[in-house]
Amino acid sequence: MPIPKAELHLHIEGTLEPELAFALAARNGVELPYADTEELRKAYLFEDLQTFLNLYYELMAVLRTERDFEDLANAYLARAAAQGVRHAEIFFDPQAHIARGVDMGTVVEGLWRALGSSETNHGISTRLILCFLRDESAESALETLDAAKPYLDRITGIGLDSAEVGHPPVKFREVYEAAAALGLRRVAHAGEEGPPAYITEALDILGVERVDHGLRCMEDEELVARLVRDRIPLTLCPLSNVRLRAVDVLAEHPLPAMLDAGLLCTVNSDDPAYFGGYAGDNFDAVREALGLTEERLRELARNSFVASFLEDDEDRRARYLAEVEAYVF
Ligand code: ADE
Ligand code: ZN
Repeated sequence: MPIPKAELHLHIEGTLEPELAFALAARNGVELPYADTEELRKAYLFEDLQTFLNLYYELMAVLRTERDFEDLANAYLARAAAQGVRHAEIFFDPQAHIARGVDMGTVVEGLWRALGSSETNHGISTRLILCFLRDESAESALETLDAAKPYLDRITGIGLDSAEVGHPPVKFREVYEAAAALGLRRVAHAGEEGPPAYITEALDILGVERVDHGLRCMEDEELVARLVRDRIPLTLCPLSNVRLRAVDVLAEHPLPAMLDAGLLCTVNSDDPAYFGGYAGDNFDAVREALGLTEERLRELARNSFVASFLEDDEDRRARYLAEVEAYVF
C-alpha cells in the first residue's frame, strides 16, 4: 500500500479520463471533435498552460447532469484511494459550467453525491474548494460567489485558477474579502507561470493561507524566507510542471532545493488525466527522478496533512499523521 497522503491541489475537471469523456459524450449526445480515445490522447502535447486550458475547457462539454459530476468524482476517488490518498481537497470551476448553461446547483449537488459518501465508499475524507477563473472579470467572480451562497455548507474555501499571466491576484481583492467574511478558507494559484510578485500579492492582498504551485518563489530569496517563516504551504504538482513546461525535465525540478530551504512543500496531481498521473504517481515519479529518500517522502506525506484544512477535525488529522509516522516503506 502506498504511503497515506492528502491531495490538496486537484481540479476535478482535470480528472476526466478520455474513456469517461467518450462515455459521457455518448450518454449526453455531445459530439467530440476526436475519433476515439487514442486520437484524443494525441492532443495531450501541451506547450504551456494555455494550450492545456484550451483542451481542458473543450472537454467539459460532456459534463451536463448531476450524475455526470457524481460519476466524475467517484472515478477520481476510486483512483486516488488506490494510491494512498486519505483526504482530498477538491477544486471545481463553476464559471466554466455556468457559461455552458449548467448551473451551480447541478455541479455542487452532483459532486456532493460522490463526496458525501466518499468516506464510506472510498475511505477518503473530502473538502470542496470553489475556484474563480482569473481570466474572467472580477464582477463575474462576485456573481459566482453569490450563486454559491445556497451551497456554502458544502464548500470549505475559494481558489483562483486558469490563465495566470496578465491576471494578477489584486484583480480579485473584493471577492476574496467577501469570501473571508463568509468564513471561507482562501487559496490561490500563484507563481506557476506568473512571477514571484504574484505570490506576494496573493498573500498580502488576498490573504491566502496556502499557495497553489508557488514554484517561482525560488526566484525571490526574501519571499522564500517569508514562506518558510510563516509556514505557508505550497501545493506543488511535479508531473504538471513537466507537461506544461514550467520545468524542462523532472530531474531538474526544484523540489529538493525547496525542501532544503525549509519550505512546507506538498506533492499533488493538478489535472491527473492530462498530466500522466495521480497523487501516488507523482510521489513515485519524484522519488525516482530526484532520488528522494524515504524520510523525504514521509516529510511530504506529513506536510500534506499539516497543510490540509482539517482544523474542524483535529482528531482526524492526528490519526492521519500517526498513519504517516507508522508507515513502513
Ligand atoms: N486549471 C486547471 N489546472 C490548472 C493549472 N495547473 N493552472 C491554472 N489553472 C488550472
Ligand atoms: Zn492547478
